[in-house]
Amino acid sequence: MDPDFLVIGSGLAGLTFALRAAEQGSVLVVSKDRLPESATHYAQGGIASVWSADDSFDAHVEDTLIAGAGLCHRDLVALVVREGPERIRDLIALGTSFSRRETRDDPEYDLGQEGGHSHRRILHASDATGREIMRALVAAVRATPNILVLERHLAIDLITDATECPTAQSCSCWGAYVLDRDGGRVHTVRARATLLATGGAGKVYLYTSNPDIATGDGIAMACRAGVPIGNMEFIQFHPTCLYHPAAKSFLISEALRGEGAVLRRPDGTPFMAAYDARAELAPRDVVARAIDSEMKVRGYDCVYLDISHQPREFVIGRFPTIHARCLQYGIDLTKEPIPVVPAAHYCCGGAMTDANGATNIRRLYAAGEVAMTGLHGANRLASNSLLEALVLGHRAGTHALEVVRANPRTPPPLPPWNPGGATDSDESVVVTQNWDEIRRVMWNYVGIVRSNRRLDRALRRILALQEEILRYYWDFTITGDLIELRNLALVAELIIVSAIKRKESRGLHHNIDYPSLAATAADTVVWPGERFVPDAQFRASLDRRRAPA
Ligand code: FAD
Ligand code: SIN
Repeated sequence: MDPDFLVIGSGLAGLTFALRAAEQGSVLVVSKDRLPESATHYAQGGIASVWSADDSFDAHVEDTLIAGAGLCHRDLVALVVREGPERIRDLIALGTSFSRRETRDDPEYDLGQEGGHSHRRILHASDATGREIMRALVAAVRATPNILVLERHLAIDLITDATECPTAQSCSCWGAYVLDRDGGRVHTVRARATLLATGGAGKVYLYTSNPDIATGDGIAMACRAGVPIGNMEFIQFHPTCLYHPAAKSFLISEALRGEGAVLRRPDGTPFMAAYDARAELAPRDVVARAIDSEMKVRGYDCVYLDISHQPREFVIGRFPTIHARCLQYGIDLTKEPIPVVPAAHYCCGGAMTDANGATNIRRLYAAGEVAMTGLHGANRLASNSLLEALVLGHRAGTHALEVVRANPRTPPPLPPWNPGGATDSDESVVVTQNWDEIRRVMWNYVGIVRSNRRLDRALRRILALQEEILRYYWDFTITGDLIELRNLALVAELIIVSAIKRKESRGLHHNIDYPSLAATAADTVVWPGERFVPDAQFRASLDRRRAPA
């Protein structure tokens, strides 16, 4: 429990950092589920990068900036786009096999097309890109002797060396408290540098494409430790998730629209051209809002995505996973349209970092979906998130190695976790009830289209829920579910507060009370100490747990 580098999360960002850091130090990777279980594993469409001769870095930068609606940080975008091809070559060197154009022997990779991209530039492994990337990464990590992996270990909170970290920029992070989900024990992990790579927060919404691990833990931990949290109002809703009572969170990739799939009303009429000249290839926020409007105005339960006009062999060859999964639910996409609805998909905001993934707290990094680097602005361009996780995971690893080499300080002794007087809860229904309520409030009041009144109502509900959850958190023995619930409640607060702060509609944030763009574009930041349920209260709870028995 004394590694040089602690990596919290085992998706693309975490494992990329781990492999880089392991070149010169010992690494502990903690992952709250099995090692491959992550949003990365479920990524379908692919990873965006300039690869073909007719494409250019400038074009990819420009597409990213347009999707980001004036809020992308241009320098950061240029950096990520330029470093993309080299990092993808690293993935290929590790054994990732991206789809070739015709046969496996064709030297050219098949490049997919997605909304908002002016060129074909999506490298993919048919329609299961994330699974293939994780296969190669997990094998590489398991083969690296100085990486130790602890599966089913959930980080609870970061350990910093200042009680007043939120105001002092000079504090350092020295590790984290980590719960062994099966044994129930809490470990104190001491590390010279720590990476948050915990992914997104889709589970804060009732309907989401995200796997169960996406409960915003890293964003909540960073916030409690004193990292400013940026742009949380920009939640991306993916336009097309399978609408079927038995299908939990199954995405129908945007790549289908890239290959000509058409969105139709239940009576078969296409509707996207009425909303945007780019029709099905408009950026996601435009498509999701169009579907939302069709469903609300016309009272549809869902709309339909139709690729049945394409040759059967092509559809099955290009989308084998989606084809097989839809067949399980009795839908043959080579013959009929697929019922789809939008669902929460990606969190553009997060813990604010610089171009090296460094936060305002020394020795604390964040990379991947947990972070807000400035790449996505007000709306992420399709397939840019795997790219960001890869490039920033590598950059953060490189920076952390340099920092630890230049300042080889041994971490100070850290207080062990103290469970205090907490007793086992006999009412776990409280957790499920609150969990369900948060997700419904967020879906109903803080969804694709927002209003001042709905945001206000949502904030009041979430703050009331937070009080109850905190009380519960202090009084009962800690469990994985309770930790996740506490984090979800805080992330919900951060999303609502950020949405309230933005007095305009931009990118993914659409408020009917402020329908136009403001004259100037600025990031929304929730600074430490600015929260309604104050950090001091959280810290008091932690201090109680840490106090000697
Ligand atoms: P993740 O891959 O989500 O990994 C997070 C890790 O953190 C997991 O291992 C998790 O168990 C662990 N973790 C979380 N909390 C804790 C904790 N408290 N303690 C310990 N461990 C913890 N993007 C694209 O660019 N292209 C695509 O084609 C694409 N398709 C997608 C399809 C789906 C269905 C989904 C859900 C997302 C898709 N995305 C896609 C988005 C992209 O997959 C994610 O943004 C990206 O994979 C995030 O990588 P990450 O490493 O930041 O986090
Ligand atoms: C998809 O395949 O539609 C998801 C792509 C993404 O989230 O970037």
